[in-house]
Amino acid sequence: MTTYTSLRNAAIAVFALQAMPAAHALDIDLPQETLLFKPSTLPGYEMVQRNCMLCHSVHYIQSQPPQSPRGYWEATVKKMKKPFGAPFPDAEIPAMVDYLVKTYGAERSIAPPPAAAK
Ligand code: HEC
Repeated sequence: MTTYTSLRNAAIAVFALQAMPAAHALDIDLPQETLLFKPSTLPGYEMVQRNCMLCHSVHYIQSQPPQSPRGYWEATVKKMKKPFGAPFPDAEIPAMVDYLVKTYGAERSIAPPPAAAK
């Protein structure tokens, strides 16, 4: 009986150890996702992929304070164009700002973005 119990405990311990690599596998996947913009059905999603990775990684966008309001993102995007020299057309600024504030800023929701339902 004692032997059975300790064997069973050992089996549980082994099982617990085996379960851990699965958690680590998840951790390993995360850095890869952070290399990319979060997918969205907003039109700005395609534009930021095209316009915002020429000079730096998505990390610059992801590391902004999550409460950053629309005006902050607008000023940031405009700054990338002038003085930094990003070549995107002015016409694409509003859609990119919309995507950024709803994905990384103050207007995002914890649930999937409302745009996904459109
Ligand atoms: C022409 C090159 C260029 C392009 C294209 C560009 N950026 Fe930048 N970005 C910069 C430079 C330069 C910095 C400042 C880097 C530093 O301070 O080390 C920067 C910094 C940032 C930062 C950090 C905060 C800050 O104000 O410095 C954010 C956020 C950012 N960019 C967002 C964007 C977004 C969004 C786009 C697409 C609309 C974009 N960038 C496109 C050059 C660019």
